This record gives sequence, C-alpha cells and structure tokens, in this order.
Amino acid sequence: MRILVIGAGVLGSYLAHVLVRGGNEVTILARVKRAAELQQDGLVIRHYFQRKTTVDQVKVIAELQPDDVYDLIFVVMKYNDFPAVLPILAENESSNIVLVGNNGDTRSMQRFFEDNSRTPKNVVFGFQLSGGVREENGHVICIRAGGQMVLGSLDGEVPFKPLMEQAFKQTKYKLDYQKDINAWLLSHIVPIVAINSVSYLHDGDLAQASKDKVRWKQAVAVMEEGFAILEKLKYPVNPAVLVNGVKKHKTLIYQGMRFVHKLRFMKLVDGSFSEIAALYQSFEPLKGQANLLTPAWDAFKQQTFTKYALEQR
Ligand SMILES: NC(=O)c1ccc[n+]([C@@H]2O[C@H](COP(=O)([O-])OP(=O)(O)OC[C@H]3O[C@@H](n4cnc5c(N)ncnc54)[C@H](OP(=O)(O)O)[C@@H]3O)[C@@H](O)[C@H]2O)c1
Repeated sequence: MRILVIGAGVLGSYLAHVLVRGGNEVTILARVKRAAELQQDGLVIRHYFQRKTTVDQVKVIAELQPDDVYDLIFVVMKYNDFPAVLPILAENESSNIVLVGNNGDTRSMQRFFEDNSRTPKNVVFGFQLSGGVREENGHVICIRAGGQMVLGSLDGEVPFKPLMEQAFKQTKYKLDYQKDINAWLLSHIVPIVAINSVSYLHDGDLAQASKDKVRWKQAVAVMEEGFAILEKLKYPVNPAVLVNGVKKHKTLIYQGMRFVHKLRFMKLVDGSFSEIAALYQSFEPLKGQANLLTPAWDAFKQQTFTKYALEQR
C-alpha cells in the first residue's frame, strides 16, 4: 500500500518504521534538515525498552504535489503545527487522511477540509501511545509498549477501516477505534496541560519538579477543573480511572505523578510549551460555555504563559 507520513519527528518516525516493517511502500515528507538526516542514515530508532536499534530505508520527499496520490496519509505533528499543512493536504487528490497527535480543534480542522478540498476527504483523528526524543543527529529514542493508536472519525465509523486494517495487518501495532475521538482527545488535553505545566515551570528538570509538592497538588486541582468543564458540556470523559481518581483519590494521584516523574525514562518523553500553550487556548471556548470557576487552571495558565512570554522576548 502507498502510504505517506508527514512529520518525521519522534512519533511519526516510529509510525513510519511500523508501516515499513508491515510491508507497505512508505514515503516521508520532511523538511530540509530532517530530510538530509533520513537520506544519509535512514530512519534510525533506538527502541528503549526493547533494547534494540532499527534502521529502515524510506523514500523522502520535500513537497506534496496535488496529483501525488497515496492510499493513506498520516500527519504526525504537534497540535500547533497542523494548520501549516492542512492547505497542502486540501490541494492534494488523496482521500484518506489521519491526523495524529494532541488536538483541541478537530471539528474546525474537519470543516477546513470540507470547505477547501479539491476532492472529498475522509478525515480521521488519532493519537499514538508512545513517546520519545530525537537526538541531535536525528536518531530517535522511542519509548513504547507494543505500539498502539487510538483513532476515530467525527461522523461514526472510520470510513477507510479496511485500508487501515490492511496497512497494519502484518504488524503487532494495535488500532483502538473510539466512538467519540473528539471527547477522547479533549479528555487527554486535561492531564497533558496540568503535568506539562509543572515540568515547564521547572525548566524540564523532572528531579526538581517531582519535589514540588505545591504544584503537583495544584496539577490535581487543574485536572479536576478540566474534567468538570468537559462533564458539564456532556462529553464522555476518559479514562474513567483518572477522572474518578482526581475526584476521590487526590493524594494517590498526586503521589503517583510525583513518583512517575522520578523515573529515568520520563526524561525521554518530549514536549514543547508552544504546543501546551495552544492546547490551553483550545480550552478557552469550552471554559466559556461551561461557565465554571477554574482558579487552579487559570493560575497555572497565567504562570506558564508569563514565563513563556518572557522566553519569547
Ligand atoms: N514525543 C513524545 O514523547 C510524545 C509523547 C506523547 C505524545 N506526543 C504527541 O504526539 C504528537 C507528535 O509529537 P512528536 O514528539 O512526534 O513531535 P515532533 O518530534 O516535534 O515531530 C513533528 C514533526 O513534524 C514536522 N513538521 C512540523 N511542521 C511541519 C511542516 N509545516 N511541514 C513538514 N513537517 C513539519 C517536524 O519537522 P522538523 O523535523 O523539520 O522539525 C517534525 O519532524 C504531539 O501532539 C505530541 O504532543 C509526543
């Protein structure tokens, strides 16, 4: 199957590796530096827990032409990077697109395709359950269990499910279809902004962050407020265990988060505050609609945005 992966960062590289090993004809669209790395060394991934390194050769392109048709296109990038590539995809004649990553704005992205595409598009949203970092030389260190993506369409069944199944048939990668992927992604934003805010306020120093009892308590409160917003707006919030945890077992969640951030491999989970800032902003309309008091959320947002503004000067 002809598959294009746009965004060969940490998660896109692993996804491309899985698809290559699954017998597909995989092309990666990459910008100049990344393209040069891929052409020189191939797609190099250190699988951290599996203690192995893989190298795959992939075709690399710098641009997507309108008549360059693929059976499936995966776009794997940060939420704030998606808008730059949507017009290029809308111009292209391929039909089946999966946008993979954090997303607080699935409906308007889908609407963009409906309003601007030359040919009709089937748009699906997904989130890959893995993490990692890129080293200076472009090699990826990948943290994962088996390899899994949660995914779904905003309008019922994934329209190209048979193609997805076929693409991953010869792999161990799991596809976890969600009835309400928008609710899944919105729910996921809540712990992501809370946890990343603590680490960002400590400049990514997780050893220091894990000692900050005050901010971890605040992070639990941020999650409780974020989930309350979604519940008030009748989103099916998940995972239920975390939602119940922040309501009924605050100390346990607080201790769990501090403990996890002491673990060595957590240093290898990448993030950038530009994406977290965009995710915070994506919640503003929901906060307005829910009309709830969110003092912990607002304080975290204000502290992190102040730091971010100073850094941008
Ligand atoms: N990494 C993790 O540990 C982790 C864990 C859980 C969830 N996630 C989520 O997964 C998503 C993807 O994260 P990631 O870590 O894989 O991101 P990433 O490493 O930043 O990769 C994004 C890739 O997209 C490319 N890109 C960005 N804008 C582009 C454009 N306009 N045209 C072409 N390519 C473009 C980047 O190109 P360049 O190489 O040229 O910069 C980069 O290769 C995010 O939502 C993230 O929060 C990540």
